[in-house]
Amino acid sequence: MLSPLKIENQGTVAPKWTDEVTIMRAAGIVGLGSYVPEKVLTNFDLEKLVETSDDWITTRTGIKERRVADAHETTTTMAIEAAKAALADANISAKEVDLIIVATVTPDYFFPSTACQVQHAIGSPKAAAFDLLVGCTGFVYGVVTACQFVQTGSSNCALVIGSETLTRIVDWTDRKTCVLFGDGAGAAVIAPVPDGKGLLGFDLGSDGSGGPLLKVEAIQGCCMSPSTIGLNGRPTIYMNGNEVFKFAVRVMADSTLAAVQNAGLTIDDVDLIVPHQANIRIIDAAARRLGVPMEKIVVNVDKYGNTSAASIPIAMDEAKRCGLMKEGSVVVAVGFGAGLSWSSFVMRM
Ligand code: UT7
Repeated sequence: MLSPLKIENQGTVAPKWTDEVTIMRAAGIVGLGSYVPEKVLTNFDLEKLVETSDDWITTRTGIKERRVADAHETTTTMAIEAAKAALADANISAKEVDLIIVATVTPDYFFPSTACQVQHAIGSPKAAAFDLLVGCTGFVYGVVTACQFVQTGSSNCALVIGSETLTRIVDWTDRKTCVLFGDGAGAAVIAPVPDGKGLLGFDLGSDGSGGPLLKVEAIQGCCMSPSTIGLNGRPTIYMNGNEVFKFAVRVMADSTLAAVQNAGLTIDDVDLIVPHQANIRIIDAAARRLGVPMEKIVVNVDKYGNTSAASIPIAMDEAKRCGLMKEGSVVVAVGFGAGLSWSSFVMRM
């Protein structure tokens, strides 16, 4: 449960925080975890489904395989597993969690929220819980949001989860999109950290004029166009890949630089960049724009494809486990995607 903030309401004047809540403290990631389904779908498997080839997918995207949720795996069950792994990594009990944010574009239900189901399953009595929908940038938005609560003292321990079952909303007859996406979940525990560590800066933004470039329509009979209805009559992903590609290269570089500047650092101070894993060519092009060598960039798109809001926490978790991301490392996480939207944070681990 979040402690109620006392706000001195001054009528037309913006609310002023009382002394009780002006106490700011550093907040950052203290634990990471992830979960991916066991079932692997390779490019060679896809060759049997649509007119494509391992060579095309590999050279155009860098993807070799992706994970596909089995019947028993859902956005919620994967979120729960990732959350438990992150709490174990942080050595924190679920009972201490007072805020749960789940970033997803593939919830099992419109309501109840995935976050409320996670709250019940892991056993975090009365934690505040809500879902956040910002496409592939959702996890970074969630971490920045959770840090604001922890920094002000409103939350002492937050869980931020990105979880997706995108393979359930792709049109398996559309080779332009079905080869790109995969399923999985990643989670981070956000808590107070020593001064100088944790969130140092961020950049969040959107440009809704690009909304039609990447979309899944929601309510059948409301605004659905034939191009976005799959064979099973359910809405599927539509993407104008070329336009999103150009947008992604530009914002990945621009947003990284904006967050680094916001943190009072330069790009040379950054030890590691964890980008949204959509396409190796986007990552390559943005790295060149930034003048950052690929050794400083975490890439696992080859193994999982694009897992939307789950891609960054899965990559962060792997980077930590394989020793790429160390105690004291200055890390940038940068996302881009539907909205259109972008987001990045700079964190000293
Ligand atoms: O997470 C949200 C953010 N999403 C992204 O960042 C995705 C951004 N976009 C991309 O990654 C790329 O634009 C794609 C991977 C989606 C497409 O790559 P591209 O190099 O832009 O290919 P294209 O769409 O320009 O297509 C080139 C050709 C076309 O054939 P023609 O018209 O030149 O004869 C396509 O029909 O490749 C064809 N094509 C394929 N061929 C074999 C498209 N998909 C496939 C496929 N296999 N799977």
